[in-house]
Amino acid sequence: MTSTEKRYYIQTFGCQMNERDTEVLSGILKKMGYQKTADMEEADIILFNTCCVREKAENKVLSHLGELRELKSKNPDLIIGVCGCMVQQKGMAETIRRSAPHVELLFGTHNIHQLPDLIENILASRNPQISIWDSEGEIRENLPSEREFPFKALVNITYGCNNFCTYCIVPYVRGRERSRQPEHIIEEITSLAADGVIEVMLLGQNVNSYGKDFKDIAIDFADLLKMVNNIEGIKRIRYMTSHPRDFSDKLITTIAQCNKVCKHFHLPVQAGSNKILERMNRGYTRETYLQLVKKIRQYHPDAVITTDIIVGFPGETEEDFAETLKLVEEVRFDGAFTFIYSTRAGTPAAEFKNQVPPEVKKERIQRLNDLIGKIGYEINLKYLNKKVDVLVEGPSKTNSDMLTGKTDGNKTVIFPGDSSYTGKIIPVLITEPQTWILKGKIEE
Ligand code: 5AD
Ligand code: SF4
Repeated sequence: MTSTEKRYYIQTFGCQMNERDTEVLSGILKKMGYQKTADMEEADIILFNTCCVREKAENKVLSHLGELRELKSKNPDLIIGVCGCMVQQKGMAETIRRSAPHVELLFGTHNIHQLPDLIENILASRNPQISIWDSEGEIRENLPSEREFPFKALVNITYGCNNFCTYCIVPYVRGRERSRQPEHIIEEITSLAADGVIEVMLLGQNVNSYGKDFKDIAIDFADLLKMVNNIEGIKRIRYMTSHPRDFSDKLITTIAQCNKVCKHFHLPVQAGSNKILERMNRGYTRETYLQLVKKIRQYHPDAVITTDIIVGFPGETEEDFAETLKLVEEVRFDGAFTFIYSTRAGTPAAEFKNQVPPEVKKERIQRLNDLIGKIGYEINLKYLNKKVDVLVEGPSKTNSDMLTGKTDGNKTVIFPGDSSYTGKIIPVLITEPQTWILKGKIEE
């Protein structure tokens, strides 16, 4: 790299949607002649691609922005930008500008394609640029992209969410549900496969609603899975996230017919009490959720089932929380992402009475995590001396002599080996199951 080359640094917060957006941002910046750097100090552009699902994620961004003040005063040409979900919130761009005037670039999730113009404008005039959608935002195809992995890829299938769960900010910042045309998805995955990608993760806030917004084509998520399953070269298909309310029988049987679709079912339950589920506007009860799990296990006895759970939703009593613990015991999840309820301004739940005190929330999440860990460990013990197929992702972050990879069910496996296995699916014998990972050795 010569010293005249311009460099960009991007930090991503939040979910896979944001990770995918970051790949597009990187692609655009590369096309503009910028090279990626992992060192903020040498960057000409610093971008924070943000999340606003919980307050903690927002606070992290705000404190990082504060730390950049000094860098900007040392290098006045530096462009500091904030994009992503956080910026889409009403008034947030102005709030950021007020508290961090060294941030000159602010744009929303639907304005990514405008990045070259926004940067050009700043370079030409040094005027701060703010570009945030106020309408639905059409789907942009064929934007450049710099993918993070050569062997696995994130592929958007829907954007936005229509569900309006009462705690959730996503429908306000990502807009209404829009599906990508099936031919665009298939084209993209076909060309990814030609480039050596073997695993795709289909992305949407609610993948089960795929196609519901089309007026002229009759297609649903199950149909799409079948089409992707037929693409040569693809070996594994994942999807994120599906809503338990919309997980149809057709989808369960289709998954059974599609050999490449991973038997990992991530079904965010959020709570185990019907009263809380109703107040969350989730559209199912604990009984219908349990029924769904039963049906999935009938068709897929080896299914790995994981979930998301929120503790301390407004009005959650000890009895309600006990229902969540009971549901966790009944389902026996392989794993769960657990969250302390975070009040999001503008959502209905922010106005609900009976907010749960922070110390109660903390104590509950601890109990919940203990239970999930205990069950996860018991389930993982069953993998001892079993052989699993692992897609190798590369050296482990904590120990570079070890490789890390994922099973079909999305369990992390750690084992000794050299990085020439990266990107391949290989058999691994599990020798030491633990609570969150499986340790093993390559099966010769
Ligand atoms: N507080 C805590 N957790 C939340 N989630 C969404 N909104 C909130 C909130 N306000 C969680 C849900 C969702 C996951 C992505 O984030 O569990 O499934
Ligand atoms: Fe948020 Fe509910 Fe939509 Fe998921 S389904 S993004 S939790 S509103």
